[in-house]
Amino acid sequence: MENFPLPRLDDDEELKSYLLPYCRLRRGDIWTDTLKRHKVLCDDCTIDLSIKKLMGEEKASLALHDPPYNFIAFDQRQLISFTEWSKRWVNTTAFSLADNSSMYVWLGADQKNHFQPLPQFMNMMAETDFFSRSFITMRNQRGYGTQKNWMSIRQELLYYTKGVPSFDVNAEYTDIPKILRGYYKEIHGVVKENSERSNSQFIRAGNVWVDVQQVFYRMEENVNGCFAQKPLKAVKRIIQASSSENDIVIDFFSHSGTTLLASEILNRKCFCADIDPVFCEISIRRIENHRANHKTGWQNSNPFYKEIESNNSLKNYLQKKYSEVKTTSLKVNLI
Ligand SMILES: C[S@@+](CC[C@H](N)C(=O)[O-])C[C@H]1O[C@@H](n2cnc3c(N)ncnc32)[C@H](O)[C@@H]1O
Repeated sequence: MENFPLPRLDDDEELKSYLLPYCRLRRGDIWTDTLKRHKVLCDDCTIDLSIKKLMGEEKASLALHDPPYNFIAFDQRQLISFTEWSKRWVNTTAFSLADNSSMYVWLGADQKNHFQPLPQFMNMMAETDFFSRSFITMRNQRGYGTQKNWMSIRQELLYYTKGVPSFDVNAEYTDIPKILRGYYKEIHGVVKENSERSNSQFIRAGNVWVDVQQVFYRMEENVNGCFAQKPLKAVKRIIQASSSENDIVIDFFSHSGTTLLASEILNRKCFCADIDPVFCEISIRRIENHRANHKTGWQNSNPFYKEIESNNSLKNYLQKKYSEVKTTSLKVNLI
């Protein structure tokens, strides 16, 4: 049973009701980590009072958000309400951030429907006090196969700033060696090729990231049941570029707790939130599991494997479910 994968949790209310008794938090609760002072809030991140309670007197130097963007279902009305809703969490983020800080937002674009909600979100952001800094594309190793269109292998990441935050360029370097030559330039009478003049033999990630593997079930960091997990490598890169040790990093859509775990590893303090007690519990267990076993996820096991072992009705439910729906091995990013 230990290797029994959890099916997608977000659309399985019955499974979540089995797991709820094992969750520490209920709506409005905050878990405070006694060791490194991280916090996990279980609440709606658009509520000013809840986020003020989470932040107290403290300010973050980095926000890293991955909101749900279910573009399959968007009609015009839903699109407007998505933008209005986004405005509210951008506002709670703005008052949680220090004067010189950064905000990164993962967002999708529906190729079959005018790339929504990406342009609408960008237009909404133009009305705020944030400055746009970069439009990053992360190339997934795999995407949806199609014979009639370009295969979709991209994930978009928007980088905004408030004031003038620091940026550590060292975080930009990949482990991909420079292989192209060019840009000869004469320096002190000697003609030198550009790689001879540069500080690094490796290329920078720039705003097209080609060196990050999409999370799938064979990876140690995999968290079964979490449908929209972001790769630890990408999240660590953002944290290293746009925050310093002991800074506060916020993530209002915690889900599998990737930002929390990356902050733990990189000695930042993470204040995160999720509206769902099950995802809050998974986030907390993710750092506890890392502290106990040095593992970044559960690979093909899951965060509740011990409880499943001792709960027959939950075990039966999963067995029945598993025989009905073969869980997908690939993490997809449709929500
Ligand atoms: C796309 S997932 C985030 C994935 C995350 N970056 C990771 O690596 O695991 C979005 C999460 O936002 C949560 N969520 C949705 N609406 C919310 C709200 N209003 N306030 C807080 N969390 C919310 C969902 O429960 C879900 O877990």
